[in-house]
Amino acid sequence: MRIYQEKDYNAVSRRAASIIAAQVVSKPDCVLGLATGSTPVGAYQQLVKWYEQGDLSFAQVRSVNLDEYCGLAPDHDQSYRYFMQTNLFDHVDIAAGNTNVPSGLAADPAEECRRYEAAVAALGYADLQLLGLGRNGHIGFNEPCDEFPLATHLVDLTPSTIEANARFFASAGDVPKQALTMGIGTIMKARKILVVANGADKADAVAKAFAGPVTPSMPASILQLHPDVTLVGDGSALAKLMEVKG
Ligand code: F6R
Repeated sequence: MRIYQEKDYNAVSRRAASIIAAQVVSKPDCVLGLATGSTPVGAYQQLVKWYEQGDLSFAQVRSVNLDEYCGLAPDHDQSYRYFMQTNLFDHVDIAAGNTNVPSGLAADPAEECRRYEAAVAALGYADLQLLGLGRNGHIGFNEPCDEFPLATHLVDLTPSTIEANARFFASAGDVPKQALTMGIGTIMKARKILVVANGADKADAVAKAFAGPVTPSMPASILQLHPDVTLVGDGSALAKLMEVKG
């Protein structure tokens, strides 16, 4: 595993964007696995800048997103489809038909999960999967549980995730209670994984994920078994991991 400790959020974002850009430059028709949440926003802004400067093109890139809230329409301002459009897709030359986000409005969410898993498999899974880290160690919306879920599936969000995401909604009561998410198996099939973490509130999760036991009660800990993981974080997010690793 490679670890980049950066001095602040801007540097984390720039480092993450460089790794994503390197993937696109070395394989222009790559499959990028993308994440939402606050951590990757700066990296997406950097990628947009490089696109605008003419240094990067997404014309042949295919993308697969990790997850989507159940019940939110693509144009709902808290849906993950909307997040991707407004933070990245609308500002670069990626073809609309090459972007994949699970549908939050599917009448049969279980069927949508099967369709999405098959679509990701048909693309050959991600060449590079970007991941943020939940404070409880979730990746995608794979919450702590008793076994690692394999494929794309429907999840009940935990109270801690609902509370963490309430900042984006009028109140915690407005946060959807379920989501569709790639499974741990889907994520682990990516050729490369890039984890971004920023701020002291991620320090415990980072240390447990990368230096604790591999257990589904800390879903990100499975990444210890992946052969190609890069972790990019600021000093506060990496502090406890560095204490353990020395
Ligand atoms: C986003 C996702 C989540 C977030 C995680 C961290 O698509 O699946 O796992 O990556 O909740 O979110 P932030 O970056 O907002 O702390």
